[in-house]
Amino acid sequence: MGGSITSKRGPASSHARLRQVVIVSVICLALYCFMLVPDHSLDSSRTVPEPVFPYYASSSSSSSKSKQQSPQQQRHPPSLLNNRFLTTPQCAAAFPGLTKEIDDVVAKGPFVLPRNPHPGLGPLVARVRGGRLSILSYARRVDLGRDMLQHRSATLHQIAAALLTAPAEEEPIPDTIFAFNHEDDPASPSLSYARPADPVLNGAAKRFFAVPHFSFWAWPIGPVGSFGRAATAIASLESELSWAAKTPKAVWRGTAWFNSARAGRTRQDLVAAARGKPWADVEALHANRSNALAVEDFCRYRYVVHTEGVTYSGRFQYHQLCASVVLAPPLAWMQHLTHLARPAFSYALDGVARTAPSSSSSSSSSFSSSSGNLVPYPAPWVKEAWPTAYDPRTEANILFVAPDWSDLEATVDWLERHPKVAEGIARRQRELFHGGGYFSPAAEMCYWRAAIRGWSSVVRTDGQGFEDLEEIPWEEFSLKEIHK
Ligand SMILES: *[C@@H]1O[C@H](CO)[C@@H](O)[C@H](O)[C@H]1NC(C)=O
Repeated sequence: MGGSITSKRGPASSHARLRQVVIVSVICLALYCFMLVPDHSLDSSRTVPEPVFPYYASSSSSSSKSKQQSPQQQRHPPSLLNNRFLTTPQCAAAFPGLTKEIDDVVAKGPFVLPRNPHPGLGPLVARVRGGRLSILSYARRVDLGRDMLQHRSATLHQIAAALLTAPAEEEPIPDTIFAFNHEDDPASPSLSYARPADPVLNGAAKRFFAVPHFSFWAWPIGPVGSFGRAATAIASLESELSWAAKTPKAVWRGTAWFNSARAGRTRQDLVAAARGKPWADVEALHANRSNALAVEDFCRYRYVVHTEGVTYSGRFQYHQLCASVVLAPPLAWMQHLTHLARPAFSYALDGVARTAPSSSSSSSSSFSSSSGNLVPYPAPWVKEAWPTAYDPRTEANILFVAPDWSDLEATVDWLERHPKVAEGIARRQRELFHGGGYFSPAAEMCYWRAAIRGWSSVVRTDGQGFEDLEEIPWEEFSLKEIHK
């Protein structure tokens, strides 16, 4: 329908021609609507602009002022949760405890950022000056895989957004130079996606600034997608599924070989412990991924088993949106909001005992110890990293289990026999992470600005030679160096 309606003829003929064009247009449009669209209506809806964050837009309810929280309700209106311009005091009032990770690392005091903080590819080093972002040093595109480029790109966009949305009515974001590590393994000193929970690995000299995962910007892989998409899907699923209607099993999917040195064979051991059990839907992903689950579909189960990988696992925040009980070995990696998890421990549950795996394969496990086949639980570092055990009946929002899965079956069995306790743990999790808005765009921007302000307040960069580095404005970098 590209015909031009401009014409040098007189107004009358021009009107006639315009009428023809309009009539033909209407007929074409009608044909399109009635003949073509029914087959493609879902796919073609892409051209319709969507609300900025449909998950928060759709959850506004007239009863949001009510004191009694249901897992679907949110403490804050969408207008606040979508507001990326909150001031520091507004952030603190809306999201108590949000910036604990930053407060803790800042409390360790000043540190020096060396010009080459980590030899090799190393973290990216960037500068904030006058509220603008520029890149000082970075791994070249050819040296990074597609995933790594996406993660780096997503996080630089997050940081740029946090700078752009700094509210005008408060102190500007201070000038600073920071290192950002886009590898899974945290690096010190840098902004990283996680930090080790074990205080021995996070000693006085370490400076891990845990920052929001790149998936809060986007994660363009099949079963996950961006956080907003998954959160919307979870909200719709949770609004329809009561606790009683959820599948009474523990679910897990993953790559069994993907383990950390610290966790040993935890994923293989999980698959072995759950094989053929009626309470489990636990499978190693097939090479053809035919048994993969969309990330929201984990919430259809009452129990979601969570395993860390080489370090943190990027799906944790998705599981935290479920009104389901997350069952995990004590977490060894703290993402920016992991401190809000309030664990109860399986050993505190009445009558839950550990059973050594009976299969002969367990003899090859790296867990073998002097006390039979069972690993120490809780390990000494766990008592340091997770000093508080919360009451499963009134406080806990997650349940830690033995890392060798020796009490997983007993734990699921106990929860099934105590449905009120189980449902309470599940509900408190969703109430906090969904209801409290901790994963909202507003909270994320609050956190990023706190991270950059916190970093700038303790980093020392003088005399390290940063002045000699060429500066690439973020806007330019964003077009050149971030896509494969
Ligand atoms: C995918 O792989 C599994 C296990 O190897 C197999 O059982 C299944 O038939 C395959 N599915 C498809 C659709 O190829």
